[in-house]
Amino acid sequence: MLHITGLSHIDIDQPIFNSQSIIGKRSFDLLIISKNWPSPGAKTWLVTNPLIAFRSLQNWESGRSVEVSLIKMKNILVIGSTGQIGSELVPALRTYLNETGTVVAGYTSRTPLPQDIKEAGPSALVNVCDKASIETAVKNYEIDTIYNLAALLSATAESVPLKAWDVGINGLFNVLEIARENHCSVFTPSSIGAFGPNTPKLNTPQDTIMRPTTMYGITKVTGELLSNYYYNKYETDTRSVRYPGLISYKTPPGGGTTDYAVEIFWSAVKGEPYKCPIAPDTPMDFMYMPDAIRAAIELMIANPENLKHRNSFNLSAMSFTPAQLAKSISKKISDFKITYEVDPLRQSIAESWPDSLDETCAEEEWGWKPEFDMENMVGDMLENVQGLLNKGNSSSKKE
Ligand code: NAD
Ligand code: SER
Repeated sequence: MLHITGLSHIDIDQPIFNSQSIIGKRSFDLLIISKNWPSPGAKTWLVTNPLIAFRSLQNWESGRSVEVSLIKMKNILVIGSTGQIGSELVPALRTYLNETGTVVAGYTSRTPLPQDIKEAGPSALVNVCDKASIETAVKNYEIDTIYNLAALLSATAESVPLKAWDVGINGLFNVLEIARENHCSVFTPSSIGAFGPNTPKLNTPQDTIMRPTTMYGITKVTGELLSNYYYNKYETDTRSVRYPGLISYKTPPGGGTTDYAVEIFWSAVKGEPYKCPIAPDTPMDFMYMPDAIRAAIELMIANPENLKHRNSFNLSAMSFTPAQLAKSISKKISDFKITYEVDPLRQSIAESWPDSLDETCAEEEWGWKPEFDMENMVGDMLENVQGLLNKGNSSSKKE
């Protein structure tokens, strides 16, 4: 379980603050040094090496009061490691733990693990619908934190709604039960899809009407409620975010309504026109993957005393329409062309979702702040997609 094993105030001018007070504590897994923590907007640094921690503290302004906490997130299981998020979260967590712990990449027999993930650490066959497979991985690797990314995305879920429920809810139940029995923390992403047509569309509040019309959304609202239930009833440390549509280049998205905002980059870089399944003036909320990965880590190491919401926090980074995204791409690739062939299913889902979310609670409760806006994201995506095409990788869609 993610838990704080020690917490103390240290004033760097006081005699208590010396190298031994930090370096002597060799048993900690991760050290968090924070300025003004746990106040809203606090700045935190994570270090895994006590010597570095000491040097960082020494460099601080004289007389500043800081808090030091010893935090444990040692052995992590990521279920759904082959997906758009998992394939980037596993390497990020491995870098973050910096050999102070283990990240086990969970995957199913249907989708092979990418080579980089397979070679860089342990992996395990984990099917969320098979409770025993989760339990085996948790026990074998003494897991304390589970990232549960297994789901069917919104458009796919509409073609197989029973399966979407099975993976999203029966699977989540299995994860929560194993977490309860083994004292694990759990992160299960929710989505803008948890909202519906009656939800206020602009600057959607954290706590508001949630009556989604898709199976995907129904699993997301239920998942939020179940996760809160386990926290309130059993004190299982559940936390999550409502991700907007995620944009990335490493792994194609798995059948969502927001996939167009990834596919468009591959067409643009290949010099092909893009046929967009979403109408030009349909706004939705988006986030670039580096921010999404950072949010998944920062929430799980946040001071639990500050979390009033837990499941799930609104997140936001940029809101745009297909026409606005195409215009931004055209600034870099002047002959880029977009046409529209609206897919009625995806369009109706998009219209039922908010245009932009209010993420104030995430800012206040765990200091969340996105780094990428649309312009930065577009530049980075074009560069990286071009790099992949140069290496011979030419797919923006799942095989
Ligand atoms: P994805 O479709 O790319 O990946 C899903 C992963 O789940 C895959 O690795 C798949 O093999 C795995 N999976 C499917 N069935 C499984 C099962 N029975 N047992 C174990 N694993 C199983 O999805 P993603 O984009 O990586 O999304 C991960 C989570 O984030 C999901 O809960 C999704 O709803 C949520 N989310 C994603 C986005 C987005 O834009 N990508 C936005 C909002 C929320
Ligand atoms: N990207 C996801 C989807 O479109 C949003 O949760 O399904």
